[in-house]
Amino acid sequence: MSFPSRRLRRLRTSEKMRELVQQTTLSSKDFICPVFVQEDLKTRIKIESMSEMERLPLDDINDEVGTISDLGIPAIMFFGIPTKKDETGSSAFDDNGIVQKAITQIRQNFGDKIVIMADVCLCQFTSTGHCGIIQGDKVDNDTSLDTLAKIAVSQAKAGVDTVSPSAMMDGQVAAIRKALDENGFTDVSIMSHSAKHRSNFYTPFRDAAECAPKFGDRKTYQVSYTNAREAMLEVETDINEGVDIVMIKPALSYLDLIAETRRRFNIPVAAYSVSGEYALVKAASQLGYVNEKDITEEILYSIKRAGADMIVTYFAKSASKFLQES
Ligand code: PBG
Repeated sequence: MSFPSRRLRRLRTSEKMRELVQQTTLSSKDFICPVFVQEDLKTRIKIESMSEMERLPLDDINDEVGTISDLGIPAIMFFGIPTKKDETGSSAFDDNGIVQKAITQIRQNFGDKIVIMADVCLCQFTSTGHCGIIQGDKVDNDTSLDTLAKIAVSQAKAGVDTVSPSAMMDGQVAAIRKALDENGFTDVSIMSHSAKHRSNFYTPFRDAAECAPKFGDRKTYQVSYTNAREAMLEVETDINEGVDIVMIKPALSYLDLIAETRRRFNIPVAAYSVSGEYALVKAASQLGYVNEKDITEEILYSIKRAGADMIVTYFAKSASKFLQES
């Protein structure tokens, strides 16, 4: 009889033994929960493409954030849907804009009991649906930087903890950092969508936030999913510009980039598990092809295992519930 030189099964013999050797952990503390808030809305609207996600009126966000906080989730990320869109995205930096009102309200009601993050981008607010300002037939980088900086400052005035630029304009972190500092918001942090890819996984979100480009696509500003080195250069550039947290987006098809960022840089790494990743799981589980809880757990653990310190996910609430129960 020959004996295997190593028996890895010894440490898999019981539930408790498996718990003891479990390397990667997952808890509600790892999550950032997106919250969609829509101006002039009277009652919640279901988001068709993202089962169980809703757009909320201002009146409902206290309850929603209360639920999120009670589940042990430390942070929320606001996305605003304004009534008015124009070429310059002016409602994005209006001190009375929908996101600014939401931030003010949650800060008043929750103090520092939850980390308030907000998306800094233009596509929900521009009539063109692009993430920057159009000049001629192009998304103009440097004009857009001024606007992104104004958005960040107005969110900071409302009391945001962390601004999260997702426009993929060159120099956006530096422009925002400078504007925040000059306006006295040295403690407001920046979590940049550093390597945000031109991804087909965003389609359901465009439904959710009404931000599809009216012409063209986002290929002139978002990173191609064919270019890993370029993604690392985006991360490095953001770090050089003074970012506090870098993000890789989407998550599941980009685990290699999460792992590489973790290995290369000593900075917190966030992963954004985007709307398409959520919708695929929801659709397959509704058809009975996969078990939603088991698949969700495996996906979120994988993102953690790859090296993410935190995950922006539409599963934040449901996963926190089942993690509490297990
Ligand atoms: C807007 C923005 C998008 C997402 C987050 N912010 C859409 C896009 O770039 O087209 C996608 C998030 C998701 O799909 O969950 N800049």
